Amino acid sequence: MKILGIDTSCDDTAAAIVEDGTVVLSNVVASQIDIHRRYGGIVPEVASRQHLLSILPVIENAIKNAQTRWADISGIAVTSGPGLAGCLLVGVSVAKSISLAHNLPLVSINHLEGHIYANWLSGRQPEFPCLCLIVSGGHSDLVLMESHGKFQKLGQTRDDAAGEAFDKAARILGLGYPGGPAIEEAAKDTTPNLPLPRAWLKGTDDFSFSGLKTALLHLASSSTASIPSFVSQAAASFQQAVVEVLSIKTIEAAKRTRVKQIIVSGGVAANRALRNFLSHNSPLPVLFPPPHLCTDNAAMIAACGYFHFIKGELSRYDIDVSPSLSLN
Ligand code: KG4
Ligand code: ZN
Repeated sequence: MKILGIDTSCDDTAAAIVEDGTVVLSNVVASQIDIHRRYGGIVPEVASRQHLLSILPVIENAIKNAQTRWADISGIAVTSGPGLAGCLLVGVSVAKSISLAHNLPLVSINHLEGHIYANWLSGRQPEFPCLCLIVSGGHSDLVLMESHGKFQKLGQTRDDAAGEAFDKAARILGLGYPGGPAIEEAAKDTTPNLPLPRAWLKGTDDFSFSGLKTALLHLASSSTASIPSFVSQAAASFQQAVVEVLSIKTIEAAKRTRVKQIIVSGGVAANRALRNFLSHNSPLPVLFPPPHLCTDNAAMIAACGYFHFIKGELSRYDIDVSPSLSLN
């Protein structure tokens, strides 16, 4: 079963074809990073206009790269939330139109659930029950997944999301946007040794990164900041603090809930320090999607869509966008 996935939730215009929820036949992502970089972050209105320009060529390329025809597509899966309203609207409207034009069933997908399903594209199938750590630009969630579509949220961030913290830290250190890859690059080959705090929020599965960000800001305005190696030291120390908190809290929750595996997803899951630390310290198997499927893409939406379609879960044409949709 070949599913066309579409995602326009934030600043990437994405379309992909995935077979049987596990095999990526094509994965096209038109990034807007170069457009938003000059503003130091995403400008929603600019992003939605850019989606309008890119969406049809991106979908056509996804069909072409998969060497397939419309007649071979079995359904369309589209992100309806969470995300930026104007951006989501472009993907949902286009998906409805194509669904009508080609007489294809449609299913709306929660972007966070989509991130989780990037793990079905890793070549290994996750086993239930598993614990999902979703770490993206807007979320840091710990979610217990008992079976397909059955989620229980255990914890979330109380302030900044992990990706947001990386982006803000990069801005403090003058490393540009997006911050995650910039911090990772600056931290490369540096042993972290600056004292930065970790918020453990004991007794909960919640996270908090705003105190860490403020501590970094104080450090950056102190005398230490004039040492030439300060930026790489600060980047490495900040990254280590985020990685330790995410990993240790995830491992504790996984032990307590007696899951079989930990699966990680979202843009921050591309971070090599997180991948190494969590894999080396977890007594349970840890799965990560390939790095290019951690950040926003539509292959994960198509994979997730497949598991809805086989259960007969279809959406109607009156689906609307849900900018603050959560995972229940
Ligand atoms: O999942 P994603 O592409 O979009 C959202 O749904 O938010 O995540 C984007 C976030 C950004 O905050 C970005 O800085 C972060 O993921 N990110 C990383 C890395 N690559 C992307 N953070 C740390 N290390 C990375 N290598
Ligand atoms: Zn995302």
